[in-house]
Amino acid sequence: MTGPFFFTVFGEPGTKRPDHDEIFYSGWQSPSNIAIVKYWGKKEDQLPVNPSLSMTLNLAVTRTSLTAVCDEIRPGLVAVNGDHDHPFIPKMQGLLNRLVSEIPCLGLLSFQAETSNTFPHSTGIASSASGISAFALCLLDIACNIMKVELPPDEWRQAVSIVSRLGSGSACRSVFGGFAVWGTSPLLPGSSDEFAVSVNSRVHPAFTSLHDAILVVSAKQKEMPSTKGHQSMNTHPFLPGRILQANRNLGDVLHALSVNDFEQLCQVAENEALSLHALIMSANPPVILMQPATLEIIRRVREARKSGLPLFFTLDAGANVHILYPAEAAPEVEKFIREELSGFCENGRVIFDSCGAGPVRLTANEAIFPG
Ligand code: PMV
Repeated sequence: MTGPFFFTVFGEPGTKRPDHDEIFYSGWQSPSNIAIVKYWGKKEDQLPVNPSLSMTLNLAVTRTSLTAVCDEIRPGLVAVNGDHDHPFIPKMQGLLNRLVSEIPCLGLLSFQAETSNTFPHSTGIASSASGISAFALCLLDIACNIMKVELPPDEWRQAVSIVSRLGSGSACRSVFGGFAVWGTSPLLPGSSDEFAVSVNSRVHPAFTSLHDAILVVSAKQKEMPSTKGHQSMNTHPFLPGRILQANRNLGDVLHALSVNDFEQLCQVAENEALSLHALIMSANPPVILMQPATLEIIRRVREARKSGLPLFFTLDAGANVHILYPAEAAPEVEKFIREELSGFCENGRVIFDSCGAGPVRLTANEAIFPG
């Protein structure tokens, strides 16, 4: 439910209108994130069946700028990167429609978006988390501008997180730098199914510079859209057990992060990754997203850990492997990745990233990545 929150923030719907000749502009850079405890399965209005915890990335980001003018004849998102049939339009317009029902003045505007990623959207990195959160930031910024509302930073992030969630669940965690939890947990007072919260105050400083190397085993578009995957949980025989497991794993990850227990973090993170794929493989219809190279990388990561390298893997709903390791181990871990693992990646592709600080507002000059 979003209504009461937006009512409190923006007042009575329809009370303010944009000026006819005004041009509204907003530009934001927003990052992707990697879940350590996975969100898999949803209920009601884009609410998660279990709480999830993620680390926001630093370099894998989307930059979006949005320009809007009053146009009651042709409202909505009319173009992305100058293209009126851009493939991103339906998803972005869906989110805009949702927001118009809460903040009607947005329905009087015609929007043009420019957007670009630091990473090609076909690398298997979750571009919806960065793309949707960047769009949500711009939309809400313009809404605040029209409604002459200035939100304090905490309320602003919460509002953006709610709007991002309506577009793509995992996007609501990208609004925060460092580590964020989305979903109500008795362990975290103030946590909610409607928005993510930062858990940085509970994270040992050793983890704030954690690195994430993304091993691109396959750059193909996702074989199974995550919407289908979430849906498959509605009738999944393991759903009750999964909810218990995710809640327990969240507690364990929060504990590991707070006391700097790297070994516990490795165990739980890998358990989460393999459980996600076990759920996918045992769904109806069953889907296998891992490839032989995924399994070989996993095997080698575990061997390397046994022989003393501090690293663990996690997986999204795809074949690519994320390898996480402390900053101080970067030279030796990255040497291992380059020499022993990159050969299993498509064109040897590895994206080296790390824990990031969250979204950044952009000026008009900064908004687009060159090329
Ligand atoms: O936000 P969605 O609908 O793309 O789902 C994301 C699902 C996972 O990436 C597999 C897990 C997660 O928590 O990010």
